[in-house]
Amino acid sequence: MRQLIDLPTPSSDKARTDKAPAHDSAKGHVSGTARYTDDVYRHAAMLHLAVGVSTKAHAQITKIDLDAVRSAPGVIDVFTSQDIPGHNEVGAVFPGDPLLVEGRVSYAGQPIFAVVADTLRHARQATSLAQIEYKSESPLLDPAVAIEENSVVLPKHVQRREAGQNIIDEAHREAPLPALESAQHRVSGRLDVGGQEHFYLEGQIAIAEPWEDDGLRVVTSTQHPSEVQKLVAEVIGIPLHRIVAEVRRMGGGFGGKESQAAPVGVLAALACWRTGRSVKFRMPREIDMRVTGKRHPFRSSYDVGFNDEGVIEAAKIELIGNCGYSPDLSEGVVDRAMFHADNAYYIGDALVIGHRAKTNTVSHTAFRGFGGPQGMLPIETVMDDIARTLGLDPLDVRKRNLYRTGKDETHYGQKVEQHLIGPMMETLEERSEYRSRRQKIAEFNKQSPIIKRGLALTPVQFGISFTATHLNQAGAIVRVYTDGSVLANHGGTEMGQGLHTKVCQVVARELGLSLENVRISATRTDKVPNTSPTAASSGADLNAMAARKAALEIKQRLFQFAQDEYALEPASMHLEENAFHATTLTGDAFTLSWPELVQQAYLHRIPLFSEGFYATPKIGYDKKTARGRPFYYYAYGAAVTEVEIDTLTGENRVRRVDILHDVGESLNPAIDRGQVEGGYIQGLGWLTTEELVWNDDGQLMTAGPSTYKIPAYSDAPIDFRVNLLEGHPNSEATIYHSKAVGEPPFMLAISAWAALRDAISSLSDYALNPVLNTPATPERILFACNKIRERQEDKVSA
Ligand code: MTE
Ligand code: HPA
Ligand code: MOS
Repeated sequence: MRQLIDLPTPSSDKARTDKAPAHDSAKGHVSGTARYTDDVYRHAAMLHLAVGVSTKAHAQITKIDLDAVRSAPGVIDVFTSQDIPGHNEVGAVFPGDPLLVEGRVSYAGQPIFAVVADTLRHARQATSLAQIEYKSESPLLDPAVAIEENSVVLPKHVQRREAGQNIIDEAHREAPLPALESAQHRVSGRLDVGGQEHFYLEGQIAIAEPWEDDGLRVVTSTQHPSEVQKLVAEVIGIPLHRIVAEVRRMGGGFGGKESQAAPVGVLAALACWRTGRSVKFRMPREIDMRVTGKRHPFRSSYDVGFNDEGVIEAAKIELIGNCGYSPDLSEGVVDRAMFHADNAYYIGDALVIGHRAKTNTVSHTAFRGFGGPQGMLPIETVMDDIARTLGLDPLDVRKRNLYRTGKDETHYGQKVEQHLIGPMMETLEERSEYRSRRQKIAEFNKQSPIIKRGLALTPVQFGISFTATHLNQAGAIVRVYTDGSVLANHGGTEMGQGLHTKVCQVVARELGLSLENVRISATRTDKVPNTSPTAASSGADLNAMAARKAALEIKQRLFQFAQDEYALEPASMHLEENAFHATTLTGDAFTLSWPELVQQAYLHRIPLFSEGFYATPKIGYDKKTARGRPFYYYAYGAAVTEVEIDTLTGENRVRRVDILHDVGESLNPAIDRGQVEGGYIQGLGWLTTEELVWNDDGQLMTAGPSTYKIPAYSDAPIDFRVNLLEGHPNSEATIYHSKAVGEPPFMLAISAWAALRDAISSLSDYALNPVLNTPATPERILFACNKIRERQEDKVSA
């Protein structure tokens, strides 16, 4: 029996804007009045910082002469690692990241010294006058070679399930899987997956200014103000309470400002500390791209056994994350790749191995999906390869392998509880007319020798929670002023994703207010302390819940006051449309406007501010046994993409995309739709056009938009149909049963890559499996086409 899901009928504009108010900065964004860090201060007395970076990828510094830098026009201060008062370490989780190089250079672009000058131009010009001599060694750049040579930033992790049981015996964990050896059919292969530059519109930036009591205030574009505060304190050697880190908004973060905004803030802070003056640090785009980490490139291999129906019985998947020179966030990134090596499928007996290669590139970091996208690609390759091996439609193979009752435990022991993905795929299949289009495309390809079309429907099952369990906590404060206006703050940061809007909506809803009565101001570490980064898509899940608790506390106090003061029926009290309503004990209707209620409460000395705290329940993962429940729940999505390629040039475009995405009970459908569309396009860029190239010397050759191609307006799908799943609230008790939306849609773009492979394989009448590493640039598509044509000819002549 087919299980279909009702899609929404379009609602009126009015109903839509009530439920889906615009981003609180939407007008500011489009009119240019929303202020970013660079706009905060522009006074003449402010100093500017620039860094001198390594020109070698792997070397020992033999001589540094900065005299010419010091005497350059406008230069006020120059410092190196020798001048750091506290410790020279800005590693996010593990040590290994010096703020400034100490003798050894680990990648081309690593900061060696800082210059502070009266103008930005003077600071940047002075950096070029440094005399630095190196004793160069050959850089290690290939992650597979790194693993062979045991060059790792952290030890490997292994997950194993055999005969349905997780194997915790260390010695046996990596032994061959018997079920793989005995399977009827097998596919195996290797896949190289490229990294990705964040290309936030606003680059990394921070301003530090002297603050009272020998303290510092750092205005910074960061997803993690508490980390900036902590590292500034450690590098300078003063307690955290003397530093405040502040961020009003970022012009995009995408994970690139989770850990790697901190050194930028710390350098500005150190310069401010030394000079006693305000200092701004902002890099030119090219330097930003050389200095800061990117999405981890991965080298993966897979060996999968399956039966005649295309159902997987055993899978060995080995993932090598190229971490660059230091650990940064790579423990979590490779773990998440491993957690998502199954995507939405029950993979039978499983052996998943995750390696963390240490190479001489910049330290790779968080990027939307946090290893999940890289982890999912091998199993999606396998689905298509199984289909072509058995002559089945890839969609049928995918559907047969989905998690379902009885086959609902992941290879790391978490039970999949909300079985939405099957019905979602069925619905999308029908709505997108998958079957008839598949047939039409096959016919088109038969009569079109050069231009070929491809189609693919792929699922996403993305785990929500930080995989580092302790990060799943948040705090908020809500204050009601005597005029009834409300100011809220929480630990989350705004990077364009609409978090502040969602939190305002939640506070307004709890207090029965219209949205304009509630405001959120800059995130600051002296408002809410010890915050987690805004990441793992959990910003709203965590912070909106904390803010709701704070609002409920205030509501509780107001109700208690009103009940006593006006002799009211407790059950009758409620807040609605900016007013308080109740029935008196004598049965009369009672109403006060919200400002009146607040004013009365104030006069009766009722506290009108409160804090809230939230920690995600149920979660935990034991690295020793490689088993547990790392995620509170999963978010789902499915996409069908149709592409067209020119098999003589490799040029390609996306003709049509249909998406059905699960956000539970949406907090804001307009914002969520924006996240789905933006996520898909960003994923499409990662998989098709955005290519990072390092040359043999370890120099990044694609350090600017002329050589690094992000999706442009004209790359958007010609026909783009996005629907949010409705009527399926989160089965867990998240904020109003919504689901996180920030990262999951990114992986919907895997359907585009699978469709490209489908189009290429049409050259062999769908019999051969193309090798298509990512990004699938026109060159790679062309080479894959040529390869399939050659193999096809070999087959015919044999
Ligand atoms: N959307 C915009 N516009 N800008 C961003 O920088 N970052 C993404 C996603 N969507 C991002 C974005 C990433 S990597 C994450 S983890 C989430 O937003 C973070 O915000 P949330 O947890 O509030 O969803
Ligand atoms: N996702 C994103 N960022 C993170 C995570 C995660 O799971 N863990 C630590 N930082
Ligand atoms: Mo997002 S990669 O978790 O900042």
